[in-house]
Amino acid sequence: MTKIGILVGSIGTTSINKTLAGALKNLFPEGVEVVDVPIKQLPFFSTDLETDFPPIAREYKDLIESLDGVIIVTPEYNRSIPGVLKNAIEWASRPYGEFSFGGTPVAVIGASPGGIATAAAQQHLKAVLSHVNAIVMGQPEGFIQVTPGLIDEQGQVTNEDTKVFLEAYLGAFLGLVGRVQKAYA
Ligand code: FNR
Repeated sequence: MTKIGILVGSIGTTSINKTLAGALKNLFPEGVEVVDVPIKQLPFFSTDLETDFPPIAREYKDLIESLDGVIIVTPEYNRSIPGVLKNAIEWASRPYGEFSFGGTPVAVIGASPGGIATAAAQQHLKAVLSHVNAIVMGQPEGFIQVTPGLIDEQGQVTNEDTKVFLEAYLGAFLGLVGRVQKAYA
């Protein structure tokens, strides 16, 4: 079964990106296993820690390496990606040469209350992901302006256009994942 990870670039308990991630989980078609890729437990990356690689970081890398694809749902902080997300990518990129995202399809999407809706952060994130050898989905792009009530308490998207867009977004990503699986089969 295809296994997709959802990594949220915000660790806030009331994160709107966490809410968007929950809504996405409800929109996956049958036959896809969806798992969370938590990042809150990771210490700040330091080369000092690499000599005795923390088991928690190893577990996180093993999880990513077990996945057929990853969707990163991230806010934009100060026109870039949050520090917690960059920290998580640092861990996934070490020890030297061991890129856990290497060869893995990765899609990026983000929620913001504002109209620009994470476009700047996503540009930065895609550049970083390319460096660590991920197979980055270029299109469609997912810029979700979250307004009150867009996603209800059950994680259902209340706006039909947004729901249709998110389903198409997931369909495009699963298509990429399928093509990569076929290429490596
Ligand atoms: C923001 N916010 C924000 N929004 C945006 O569209 N572009 C930006 O550059 C920033 N910068 C920024 C910096 C910091 C430190 C914070 C805390 C917030 C607003 C941001 O989109 C909003 O707080 C979202 O709710 C953050 O997403 P999460 O954490 O709720 O998922």
